[in-house]
Amino acid sequence: MAVNPAATVITGIGELTTNTAEFGVMRDAAIVVEGDRVSWIGPAESAPEADHRVDVGGRAVLPGWVDSHTHLVFAGDRTAEFDARMSGIPYSAGGIRTTVEATRNAADETLAANLRRLRAEALRQGTTYLETKTGYGLTVADEKRCATLASDVADEVTFLGAHVVPPDFSADTYLDLVCGPMLDAVADHVRWIDVFCETGAFDAAQSARVLEAGKSRGLGLRVHGNQLALGPGVRLAVDHGAASVDHCTHLTDSDIEALAASTTVATLLPACDLSTRQPLAPARRLLDAGARIALATNANPGSSYTTSMSFCVTTAVLQMGLTIAEAIHAATAGAALSLAHDLSAPGAVGVLRPTATADLHILDAPAAIHLAYRPGVPLTWSVWHRGAQVFGPPVG
Ligand code: NIG
Repeated sequence: MAVNPAATVITGIGELTTNTAEFGVMRDAAIVVEGDRVSWIGPAESAPEADHRVDVGGRAVLPGWVDSHTHLVFAGDRTAEFDARMSGIPYSAGGIRTTVEATRNAADETLAANLRRLRAEALRQGTTYLETKTGYGLTVADEKRCATLASDVADEVTFLGAHVVPPDFSADTYLDLVCGPMLDAVADHVRWIDVFCETGAFDAAQSARVLEAGKSRGLGLRVHGNQLALGPGVRLAVDHGAASVDHCTHLTDSDIEALAASTTVATLLPACDLSTRQPLAPARRLLDAGARIALATNANPGSSYTTSMSFCVTTAVLQMGLTIAEAIHAATAGAALSLAHDLSAPGAVGVLRPTATADLHILDAPAAIHLAYRPGVPLTWSVWHRGAQVFGPPVG
């Protein structure tokens, strides 16, 4: 067999999760990586020869996590608010204004350094693809600089000017700004528009106005909805054909039916539910009804200060009734679907198949179920991003 000098063959894979019907979960598998792509997957005994070989010693290999919901452009933290919450003070959208003030007062370098720190923290825990949002600037200039800084670090950026109404505005006057000059200022730097449709933020009519403005500028649609109580967010997202409705903590049967009959992905944020002392989102009911789900961290300083996708997967299995395969799918392929990706396209993320991006998360465990079996143990052994190992022991 000819030796491919540009390829690395990864062997000794105890269990390989591919998220594809054709390869499924394989034991004693091998993967060949060429450049930034996977070029071959199959049983180890028929792996092609390659110049470079890496033996991962019987460990489990998964696609890198896809974190499809984060708010990483911020300054300051909200330790005191969190501490008070743990003593019984309920979470409300109003706390967002604390971070808005700190973010407006921070220099670009401070925001950029914080973004890089959190992106690096996520990467070394296996997150190889990440979305992040604006939403702590809420002036034209601050939303624009947040969008610009985010686009230097994140794979995809969402405009969340409609996060809350800042002081000194009525909701409608503020939305004139969001849907006009603010949208003009950020549109070239973002792929998505989002709105926080919740009591204390924006109602259904106001949220629809934001989505329609974004759509007319060619942006994809996302909605924060049904986080703190039942509400119109899910219906709004489905009716507008949004790619994702995020939180989905409080859902009626008819919300679940609407999601199941749509292509809108329900993005569940278990770390946020725990950190805000809400019930966990009804993942099992959603899957049983036929809805599509994603899991994401919602990393932000107020409601969910974690970049750990592994923690979200662990929680989904231990507390939300998912199997490990369902939870991994939601945190990888499901999250990519929530970002409207085609999982069979060349360069796909969230799946492992020939032509997919070679983003690998290798666990220091023989099987992925250890993420739930050994909760809290840092199991990330090695991370490959776009065909190169970026975290882990020296290879080859
Ligand atoms: O997704 N829900 C709205 N936005 C964020 C919270 C941000 C904050 O509290 O700072 C979220 O939870």
